[in-house]
Amino acid sequence: MPRQFFVGGNFKMNPATRDAKVALAKTLNDATLDDSVEVVIAPPSIYLIPLQEVLRKDVKVSAQNCYFKTSGAFTGEISPSMLADSRIPYVILGHSERRTLFHETSVDVAQKTRAAIDAGLSVILCVGETLAQREAGETAKVVQEQLDPVIAALKPQEWSKIVIAYEPVWAIGTGKVATSAQAQEAHADIRTYLSSNVSSEVAESTRIIYGGSVTASNCKELSQQPDVDGFLVGGASLKPEFVNIINAKQ
Ligand code: G3H
Repeated sequence: MPRQFFVGGNFKMNPATRDAKVALAKTLNDATLDDSVEVVIAPPSIYLIPLQEVLRKDVKVSAQNCYFKTSGAFTGEISPSMLADSRIPYVILGHSERRTLFHETSVDVAQKTRAAIDAGLSVILCVGETLAQREAGETAKVVQEQLDPVIAALKPQEWSKIVIAYEPVWAIGTGKVATSAQAQEAHADIRTYLSSNVSSEVAESTRIIYGGSVTASNCKELSQQPDVDGFLVGGASLKPEFVNIINAKQ
């Protein structure tokens, strides 16, 4: 079965006001979107429910993070079951900003992934190498090490709830997008690794999306790569061009 193209918009801690977010939702509501694409937007958690209420029903929302515990004395955290209880279907885990700025390890990410799956959520699982790691020829090794604890934590059938976002750190927010050859190579390596370490079915069916300086002008070429199943978009998801990225395959 062909993999459904997936486009996520990660608003990060943007834009500054509720009105600006509602305006973004309105842009999506008014647009003609390729109905073969799964579209998910990830606003800051305080805006998840208000945005879900105003968004068209074929656009889903995602949290940008969650904790691995169900409830308790964890000030500032949100649990996967709270997201599920609020009908939030997705959560982004392991984003490089969480790994770098908030010191999340790959083991932490796997623990959160396990908890999210247990709560019934789907996960956008981010992996990717730094520039120094790429220049040292370590891209595949770094990504595999990020995937290993998740592979250990999940049963093969649970991979249907995972979308892997390959996001080279050097491409995030820099305007330096990976070439389509670089993206294709990294995605194909991930698929081969899943085939050897989970199963060939999981490798074939898991969506692997690309993130890092995706724009309306570079998305078409990237989308034509056989192992690029969509995008996780940061900056450009805050602009009207996000619609063109959703429609990249048309
Ligand atoms: O989650 C999205 C990525 O961090 C990409 O961000 O499109 O602003 O480079 P960007």
